[in-house]
Amino acid sequence: DDLERLAADVRSADAVVAFTGAGISAPSGVPTFRGDDGVWEQFDEGQFAYGRFQRDPEGFWEDRVELQRELFGGDYEPNAAHDALAEMGKDGDLEAILTQNTDGLHGDAAAAVDGSGGNSDPPILELHGNARRVRCTDCGKRRDGDPIFERAADGELPPTCDCGGVFKPDVVLFGEQLPGAVIQRARSFARESDVFLAIGSSLVVEPAASLPRLAASTGGTVGIVNLEPTPCDDIADVVYREDVTDALPRLRELTDE
Ligand code: OAD
Repeated sequence: DDLERLAADVRSADAVVAFTGAGISAPSGVPTFRGDDGVWEQFDEGQFAYGRFQRDPEGFWEDRVELQRELFGGDYEPNAAHDALAEMGKDGDLEAILTQNTDGLHGDAAAAVDGSGGNSDPPILELHGNARRVRCTDCGKRRDGDPIFERAADGELPPTCDCGGVFKPDVVLFGEQLPGAVIQRARSFARESDVFLAIGSSLVVEPAASLPRLAASTGGTVGIVNLEPTPCDDIADVVYREDVTDALPRLRELTDE
């Protein structure tokens, strides 16, 4: 079937790049953004825009505490799909994991597989940052997010750093540029990939939307694993419309020979 074809391509490829979105964490209990149960049904994206943060940091943080609870309030852990990618990575089958997710679950899965506390090989590029951290907008210092979100929930709006600067969740907000170096690296991974796997993403937000096309334009095979159709399906070599927790462990099994 399609997944067998994709596995054959992965086996013969030199550089396989995995690119993930909210769909890979949905089975862990982290809600997606779009679709019926998506958080954008409940919240307005504009509440979390960079312009709002700058204009009204107090209101931004008040809303962000609620969004954070909705997204990451439960106890959540990597699922079989994160684990399969971490194992493929450990076996040297992946060049990089690029993710739009800010939940840190790829890092957790990699740490569980290779016993390391970070600096994962292959690299994990968190294109939209990491929502478990905050960053001071003045001194730039990063801090563990939990205590800061707690302070905000207790009424410190907006929460501030020792230096007096306002904290911002260490994520890329709407209307905010992705760090140039990160996007540069992501593009070069896509360009140099022989197989580009887009997993659990609606592929509608830039730069996500253009990475599969970039991979295809340099001759790479593009495989998509997603429950719903995406605007990149037409350029993909294989589209696999299945749950990530079925597809990825099977792909890993088929490539682990
Ligand atoms: P979306 O919520 O847009 O898309 C998630 C996709 O995953 C949907 O197309 C679902 O069909 C699919 N999906 C859900 N559960 C799945 C499962 N178990 N197996 C397979 N597929 C499944 O999420 P993203 O594409 O990641 O930006 O969204 C991109 C960005 O938009 C996010 O990073 C966020 C958001 O606004 C920022 O926060 C900056």
